[in-house]
Amino acid sequence: MKVDGKHYRTIWVADGGSAVEVIDQTRLPHVFAVRRIETADDAAHAIRTMIVRGAPLIGATAAYGMALAMDRADDDGALSAAYELLVATRPTAINLRWALDRVRAALAPLAPALRAKAAWVLAAEICDEDVAICEGIGRNGLELIRQAHARKGGQGPVNVLTHCNAGWLATVDWGTAIAPIYMAHDAGIPVHVWVDETRPRNQGASLTAWELGRHGVPHHIVADNAGGHLMQHGLVDLCIVGTDRVTAQGDVCNKIGTYLKALAAHDNGVPFYVALPSPTIDWTVADGIREIPIEQRAQHEVTRIAGRLADGSVVEVDIAAPGSPARNDAFDVTPARLVTALVTERGVCAASRDGLDGLFPGSAPRRAG
Ligand code: MRU
Repeated sequence: MKVDGKHYRTIWVADGGSAVEVIDQTRLPHVFAVRRIETADDAAHAIRTMIVRGAPLIGATAAYGMALAMDRADDDGALSAAYELLVATRPTAINLRWALDRVRAALAPLAPALRAKAAWVLAAEICDEDVAICEGIGRNGLELIRQAHARKGGQGPVNVLTHCNAGWLATVDWGTAIAPIYMAHDAGIPVHVWVDETRPRNQGASLTAWELGRHGVPHHIVADNAGGHLMQHGLVDLCIVGTDRVTAQGDVCNKIGTYLKALAAHDNGVPFYVALPSPTIDWTVADGIREIPIEQRAQHEVTRIAGRLADGSVVEVDIAAPGSPARNDAFDVTPARLVTALVTERGVCAASRDGLDGLFPGSAPRRAG
């Protein structure tokens, strides 16, 4: 997507192939800064501290982390060490493990001297695939927005509520949940987005609103608690969110607060769609609530908040009394029964084992009996 007229992906190869660069998402929306990643440790740090974030992008960054590791040492020990370092950075988004498993499986049988080059090629392939997949999600989701517009008799904008950031910043380009919105806007379908602020890290207010603004998509940031009220008053035509892991039976793990939006949507008869690239499906897991590890993040993300002062400086301030403890679960699970449909690069399906099997036949492990 474009920033001030220049096309960017969120990650790209720099210095003729000895480093990668990323957009530093911890500094948005106040500063657009590029950050260099030169080692596997840099890649791990970028993922852990959320310089890069969003399930597909952390997978892509990890793949480049493996390539950077292989540049320095390419024996079996170095391969395992890089894998273990990177896989431990964030526990919930399955795309991270998916990308690392794919790179490790491709490199392990190769002679060490061939590994670095193969890793760079594969990381680039993973990025290009992500762009193509997200474009496919966009095309399939566009039809849902087109249908919503038709249901309104072509009157007024389609009001879409989204949570967290599942836009191009969360992927290599296009985004997952936001890709259909960009395509609808570009196709001349009037669309307006309710952007959940997404406490505690404010990915909605800081990232989604920033991206939508750059693309000229009308939107309003709303407090996380506002969605149910907006739905009760007929101000939301559909919800669409991204996801960090979808189970084989269609349960959806996404940024904390997603479940409450799905409950409100269910109560108000508002369609609740989840957009996902196929690498986000964890075919080994069925029951999302019991089986998906939920990242626990630092208390200070809840008790403090960052913002820009009038003089342009960005500061963090306390919003709680000193000593008040906080709990910071980063994700929650929305049961499949609350999801109207899953939007993938292959099409739209029911959030169920049969729905997913229909689009991705043979991917699920065989069931006993
Ligand atoms: O903690 P984050 O910012 O990495 O969480 C990101 C999300 O929850 C996104 O909604 C999810 O990764 C889907 S993005 C394509």
